[in-house]
Amino acid sequence: MRVTVIGAGYVGLASALAAADVGHDVVVVERDPDRLARLRRREDPLGEPGVAALLRRTRARFEASDAELDRADVILVAVGTPMGVDGRADLSQIDEACRSLAHEARPGAVVAIRSTVPVGTCDRLQTGALRRQRVVSNPEFLREGHALEDTFAPTRIIAGGPPAARVAIERFYAPLRARAGRGVPLLWMSSRSAELAKYAANGFLATKLSFVNEIANLADVVGADARAVLGSMALDPRIGAGHLRPGLGWGGSCFPKDTRALAALAAGEGYDFVVLKAAIEQNARQLEEFARIVERETPADGTIGLLGLAFKAGSADTRESPALALARILANGGRRVQAYDPAVRDAPDAAIGQLAADAVAACRDADAVVVATEWPEFAALDLAALRRVTRGDVLVDGRAIIDPARAVAAGFRYRGVGVQADGDLARFALRAAS
Ligand code: UDX
Repeated sequence: MRVTVIGAGYVGLASALAAADVGHDVVVVERDPDRLARLRRREDPLGEPGVAALLRRTRARFEASDAELDRADVILVAVGTPMGVDGRADLSQIDEACRSLAHEARPGAVVAIRSTVPVGTCDRLQTGALRRQRVVSNPEFLREGHALEDTFAPTRIIAGGPPAARVAIERFYAPLRARAGRGVPLLWMSSRSAELAKYAANGFLATKLSFVNEIANLADVVGADARAVLGSMALDPRIGAGHLRPGLGWGGSCFPKDTRALAALAAGEGYDFVVLKAAIEQNARQLEEFARIVERETPADGTIGLLGLAFKAGSADTRESPALALARILANGGRRVQAYDPAVRDAPDAAIGQLAADAVAACRDADAVVVATEWPEFAALDLAALRRVTRGDVLVDGRAIIDPARAVAAGFRYRGVGVQADGDLARFALRAAS
């Protein structure tokens, strides 16, 4: 099939590379000249595993505009929908892209909206700018750091729109589903259901994490170990083993934006989405409380060895990163933040200054070591070597990845989120008895 992909971000580029790899004839339209130039040089602009290799062999073409858009059978729209006023999704890039392709795309072509958009957006486009084309909501569920993996082997493909568009969508996904080698369900529904399905998934996962963090906080209060509690929950298939690790809060380019957009969408319809609002509020509180722990453990002009700046491991992305927000709170409060992240090269914020070259350099003369991103290499650190360079003896684990026994054996006092070092249980028992 002849396919045009508008936007070469995580979603667009992964979709385009996968579509070209399974045999479609793909043109990618990217408006940002720098990104376009990099793509034409076959450089990976995302830092995603496998993208560089696939870029080198792809037959997809990268253009500033598609001169033959009228030949496209399917047009994937994958432009940004950033957070706008009052938490609502800002649809200006979607509207602009659809306005321009309305005249060039042939009547009857399928326009699949891969961006996360509020419920009703596809209906609005179908009756407005794209009335001559067939508008389908086709949200994606890829995770950063797994963009290609999730695109080539998605847990499900969701699409919804006018019935006449269904065959084209099925044909488009057929080779990808065949390649995946296991039954990837393609769920066909209305565009409104497909739009809500995306927000519902992200909203649920974020809410799950806020609940997990509440359990961890409560574990601290009652002297339980969240790892044991959550580990037992993970074995219940109704709960699911994913997204159960507690910490200083969730972030990234999707959860914060999509939860606010969903809450705003509900409020706009007069529906009060109390659980989701609480999850958002809890997440803000989680970060603040975590910052208070670090502040209580360190002098006001102290030095923090901050391990991690990315919003999660496996990514260099610091958008809405809890680690970066923590760094800002601590730096603005007068502490010196020496940060290191295996993937982040340049300090994303002037308050943080230059980044350290490695974990040991970040922790040199620090009053506290703070783990803020769940990089596996932090879990494997030589803690005794780290302790030899730190001034203070506290290690605050904001991602529940450090073994408290190892931290204590290395001479650290361990502070975690729901995770107790041995002595803490005894202290709780004493406190409870008094
Ligand atoms: C998310 C969804 O997982 C994906 O399906 C959707 O398409 C886009 O949004 P992503 O933003 O890449 O993907 O990150 P994800 O891996 O879900 O993590 C989000 C945040 O939750 C990160 O800050 C991460 O550190 C945090 N997290 C995740 C936890 O705190 N604990 C966990 O157990 C898992």
